[in-house]
This record gives sequence, C-alpha cells and structure tokens, in this order.
Amino acid sequence: MQFYIMTLFPEMVMQGLDTSIIGRAMSKGLLSIEAINIRDYAFNKHNSVDDYPYGGGAGMLMQAEPVYQTYKAVEEKIAARRRSDCCNENVQEDSRKNDCEDAVRSARKTRVIYLSPQGKTFNQGMAEEFAKEEELVFLCGHYEGIDERVLEEIVTDYVSIGDYVLTGGELPAMIMIDAISRLVPGVLHNDVSAEFESFQDNLLEYPQYSRPEVWHEKRVPEVLMSGHHANIEKWRREQSVIRTAKMRPDLLEKAELTKAEKELADKIIEELE
Ligand code: ADE
Repeated sequence: MQFYIMTLFPEMVMQGLDTSIIGRAMSKGLLSIEAINIRDYAFNKHNSVDDYPYGGGAGMLMQAEPVYQTYKAVEEKIAARRRSDCCNENVQEDSRKNDCEDAVRSARKTRVIYLSPQGKTFNQGMAEEFAKEEELVFLCGHYEGIDERVLEEIVTDYVSIGDYVLTGGELPAMIMIDAISRLVPGVLHNDVSAEFESFQDNLLEYPQYSRPEVWHEKRVPEVLMSGHHANIEKWRREQSVIRTAKMRPDLLEKAELTKAEKELADKIIEELE
C-alpha cells in the first residue's frame, strides 16, 4: 500500500512513521510512505504558501495553487508507479504499452483525505475501508485552513480524529496511517491479532496477563492457567462484555450479545449508576 502525505512538515511525519512496526513494514516493501513538501510548490520568490483571508479574520490561509501543484505532482507519481507496476515484466511491445496506459488512465480516482476537525470522525470501520485502497493521499492543513476552492477540486474525504482542534493535520494523518497500515496483510506478525482486538464486534478487548504468575500480590486469573481452551474463550468473552459495559457502554448498542450477555451488561451498567 502506498501513502502520500502533502504537508509543510515532511520530516515530522517521516520521522514519526519510520519506526517500529510501520518502519519494518516499509523496509519489507509492504508499505511505502512518501511525504511531499507543499512549500516546494510555492510560486513566489519568498517561498510563502499562505496569505490573508478575503473578508478579514484571524490568521492566514494556505493558498490554493501550491496545494494544487503538489497534488498534480502526487497524481503523476501515482500514475508513474502504476505504469511501472503494469510493465514490470519489461515487455516492450506497443500493444502491451497501450494496455498499460489504458489501465493507468481508467483506474479509479485515488482518495484524497483532508484532515480537518470538520470531517467525519475516524473510527475502526473507516480504517478497514481505507485499508482496501492501493494508495491513499493525505492533505495536511496548517494556519487557519486551506482555500476552499482547491479542497473542492481535489478532496474526496474529510476526516477528523476527534472533537478537538490541533495545530495541523500531520498528527491526524500519522494516526490514520498507523491504524490503516496494521490492517494491511503481513504488517502485523500475527495476522490473526488484527481481527481479535478492541472494537472487533463492538466489544473491547479482554484483560491479558503474562509472567510472573503473581505480581504485587495479584494472581493471574485461575482459568488462564487451566489450559482449558473452551473455558478460556468463555471467560474472555465475558470479560469483554464486562469491560465494554464499564468503559464504553455506548458500543453495546451495536454489539451482538446473547440474552445472558445482555443481562450481564445491564447489571453492570445498573451497578455503576
Ligand atoms: N486538524 C486540526 N485538528 C484536527 C482534528 N481534530 N482532526 C483532523 N485534523 C485536524
């Protein structure tokens, strides 16, 4: 999967992402992440990319043209990559080249995500949907935002990471890339672990324990030491229900619970009230 990040702070995103699991997936070629500096597409001698908003108001706006030129450059990078993927076998015949060109041109439009507190709030379902794409483009705003006209032309998705305002879209883009990347096959060591975790089935993950058996006088729950897999599964499911009822009762509306699980959840919520 390929990520392209249009930003005024390319080092910030690259340094943040080029480590740990995502960094390893990049070295393995499972992911590629490229940050493109919008300032490289400034069109005046001062290299500035912002200006005052018409109509007055606080702060500066990012201008349309540098953002648009950055996007055109990204579009070209994507087309070049698709072309080289298509012609990978080094076939030189003209008919084959034409097929490649057709494929590059007819490929569906790449999604361009603008990070903004005004967007739809990011969640696991959206991460799963975005993970199906071959490439994603992120546009990080700064100052008081970006000239609306360029947003209208290039953005396909407006996404927020929560109801608070940050100084720019870089951290939100990094968060989204992290959440999406770990769903790409091969990125996590254990393919199963992306499936059984928080928010799967709208339940939170059960508590987990590792060695030692006793720590600060707290013993690992007996059932986990029993080796009885059915009982362990049953215990874990129950713990997930309990934990979700305690911490995120709002999720339970969408969770599929048995009658007994529903009663358990209701009892816990009642106790907390
Ligand atoms: N830019 C500034 N605040 C943001 C937020 N909460 N989500 C996404 N992008 C942002």
